[in-house]
Amino acid sequence: MPAEKMDDSGKEAGISNGGGLVYEEGEAEESVRPEDLSELLAAGTKESHDKAENTQFVKDFLKGRIRRELFKLGTVALYFTYTAMEEEIERNKEHPAIAPLYFPAEIHRHEALARDLEYFYGEDWESQVSCSPAAQRYTGRIREVGRDEPALLVAHAYTRYMGDLSGGQVLKKVAQRAMKLPSTGEGLNFFQFDGIHSAKAFKQLYRSRMNELDLDEPTKERIVAEANLAFQFNMEVFSELEEIGKTLQDEVLDAGMPVHGDVQGDISKCPYYNTKMAASGGASYACQMATAALRHPTGQVLLAALVAALAGLVAWYLM
Ligand code: HEM
Repeated sequence: MPAEKMDDSGKEAGISNGGGLVYEEGEAEESVRPEDLSELLAAGTKESHDKAENTQFVKDFLKGRIRRELFKLGTVALYFTYTAMEEEIERNKEHPAIAPLYFPAEIHRHEALARDLEYFYGEDWESQVSCSPAAQRYTGRIREVGRDEPALLVAHAYTRYMGDLSGGQVLKKVAQRAMKLPSTGEGLNFFQFDGIHSAKAFKQLYRSRMNELDLDEPTKERIVAEANLAFQFNMEVFSELEEIGKTLQDEVLDAGMPVHGDVQGDISKCPYYNTKMAASGGASYACQMATAALRHPTGQVLLAALVAALAGLVAWYLM
């Protein structure tokens, strides 16, 4: 959610590319005004953001209910989206509304997503992936604004990059645990911004650059409207994935400790469930741990030993 203000810190660039100086001290330190584009965008997309956060797909993702097949398809949709967006940004990099926001080394995701797809699909990944209908509508719009009104690309860049920089690390950890991906980050390059050492400082820089754009009020309003459209496109991609998810077979997640929130059987019968639910209102992690432990031979042996010990105790008591 929009929270940070431009003047709440920010001495550093948030950039660690070792390349040209793209940030001057103090650049991001001015206070914000209500008419600043960053403020208009934050306030004007708040409702869309709330809706996006509450889509089933996103809620499931945060609970660790992520199936590998669906995650792969989500990565494919992102690949086509970022390819379109970054090609249009590249083509318009001299445009006065785009040039100050042009940070390919720091934020562009095309290469990272291509590496993730190679990890998931293998070397011939390009012949295996295609742009889904929802992603086609999204990229179609990006191409259209890139051609007809490049200033509106600001809205698309804002919606994706500021979002990615806001929750990336949390989502990366959730995905890593849920799909048991290597801790070295394969398959999750999308979430890794190697050229940025402080996401917070970089977002401040990006906001200040947006605020310095020479835009009249109607254009600012069109950018906010376009950002709401971008949120809408993202939600359409989520619903598409949600629908595909219903047709996929459930993956068995019992090769080890299960993922938070994902358990088979009647969870409400687990003795840990009610206590945990009362305490946190969340899913029963302890129950899942117990269930998982019992699926393992070691867990079963321990349970048998416990039962035998209890039986011995009862026999001794009755004697
Ligand atoms: C459950 C899902 C989500 C959660 C919990 C979440 C949470 C957050 C949080 C805490 C921030 C504020 C970060 C900060 O001020 O530095 C933020 C910012 C943002 N998020 Fe999300 N987000 C979610 C989903 C999304 C989605 C799906 C999108 C769009 C595709 C998105 C786009 C954005 C944008 C553009 C910002 C920057 C707002 C601004 O400062 O102007 N978020 N999000």
